[in-house]
Amino acid sequence: MDTPRIINLPKFLDARGNLSFVEQENHIPFTIKRTYWLYDVPGGECRGGHAYKENEEFIVALSGSFDVILDDGKEKKTFTLNRSYYGLYVPKGLWREMENFSTNSLAMILSSTNYDACDYVRDYDEFLMLKRNGKI
Ligand code: TYD
Repeated sequence: MDTPRIINLPKFLDARGNLSFVEQENHIPFTIKRTYWLYDVPGGECRGGHAYKENEEFIVALSGSFDVILDDGKEKKTFTLNRSYYGLYVPKGLWREMENFSTNSLAMILSSTNYDACDYVRDYDEFLMLKRNGKI
């Protein structure tokens, strides 16, 4: 399985304002089928709390900051995202939570699949069981 990792993106620093970009299968290891974003997250709220069986993601803090906690069933790792020139690659099969959203933060998420409710595992015990059995 691929490991989660921070991927640095190109950045063009310019007195007129900075520019970064991301290309599918170049900077990130998948084809982008979907983009969604999280915004207006009230202080103290958490998002995520699930795993995907197939979907892979690349998460960028376009504005503000937040933490992404990834859990492979054995250990948890926290990644703080707070710049728009890098993102976190999240392979399939990991439990993920997002928390500590700063005011006005904006999370952009690039996904490798279209939305499919059946791809979600939302029960943590079920996630652990699937992990133990090598099913996710
Ligand atoms: P969910 O993935 O549970 O949000 P998060 O992981 O950020 O906490 O999605 C919340 C709701 O939005 C859920 O009812 C499904 C819907 N949704 C879509 O319809 N399409 C999408 O691409 C996403 C990500 C969610």
